[in-house]
Amino acid sequence: MKVRKAIFPIAGLGTRFLPATKALPKEMLPVVDKPLIQYAVEEAYAAGIRQMIFVTGRTKRAVEDHFDTAYELETELQLQEKSDFLSLVQSIKPRDMECIYIRQSRALGLGHAILCAQNIIDEEPFAVLLADDLFMGPSPVLTQILEQFNHYQSSIVAVQTISQEDTFLYGIISGDVIDTRTTVVKHIVEKPAPDVAPSNTAVAGRYIFTPAIFEEIAKQSSGVNGEIQLTDAMFSLLSREKLYAYHFEGKRYDCGTKLGLLKATIDLAEQHPDIGPSLRRWLREKTTNNRSQLLFKQENKKKDCMIT
Ligand code: UTP
Repeated sequence: MKVRKAIFPIAGLGTRFLPATKALPKEMLPVVDKPLIQYAVEEAYAAGIRQMIFVTGRTKRAVEDHFDTAYELETELQLQEKSDFLSLVQSIKPRDMECIYIRQSRALGLGHAILCAQNIIDEEPFAVLLADDLFMGPSPVLTQILEQFNHYQSSIVAVQTISQEDTFLYGIISGDVIDTRTTVVKHIVEKPAPDVAPSNTAVAGRYIFTPAIFEEIAKQSSGVNGEIQLTDAMFSLLSREKLYAYHFEGKRYDCGTKLGLLKATIDLAEQHPDIGPSLRRWLREKTTNNRSQLLFKQENKKKDCMIT
């Protein structure tokens, strides 16, 4: 079974970034100079996938425009002989990449969004990438789990160890460890409280599923937050086929939160060839200034204590 298609569910409301996401898709928020969705699409492309399926909603037109030809812009760049920018713009959608858009008319949950793509996927295994999870590492995370899928030929999800107090933010798995990176999942639960969580191993936003997942999603009623949860469907999948969890190599940025997006922006900007050196200098100066201000305040406090 070869993975040829990827689903990008991008129909969520993005409430944690309001007001920025009132009219702008969360997935179009930039990390340095590239929108989140482009990082995810590039990751899928690097893994050999050529058919990209976007499950979109009413405010997500900008994503379609981003992966379409920008005729006026390209003509202008040609006239101005800005060939670097022209090839940058044209490289967003390589010629052999196909983009398909389907609408999820109401944000009924991640599971429901994936179900919307069932007719396009048909009877093939497929990848799911959540663009608000951004990964940096030695090799793209989707490629890492794809290698495992090719070996096991069964559904697989990327996971990472998190601190116990954060379990309420993620899907949490537990199961039988088969090697340092791989676990056969026996239990999976959405956003459990830290004291009842089965482990501190959290699902990260990269999955490969066999088509069996569609039937399991279709059986689900609303779960946590009143949404049709992918996690619940993954739990019922366990009774019919093996689900593997793979501890990916690399770093994850949860860009669905303001802090995660800022951390990703700073880390990637520090490595950026144009702005990296100036940003690092500015960060050093800022840290030194903050430290001097702190020392100054501590000294003054000491003096005040001695006077009184
Ligand atoms: P999130 O849980 O991050 O939800 O969805 P959200 O709506 O995007 O953001 P908040 O929580 O309101 O701030 C995870 C992924 O699933 C997609 C989102 O677009 C995001 O990529 N999603 C979620 C859908 O496509 N449809 C849904 O009904 C829900």
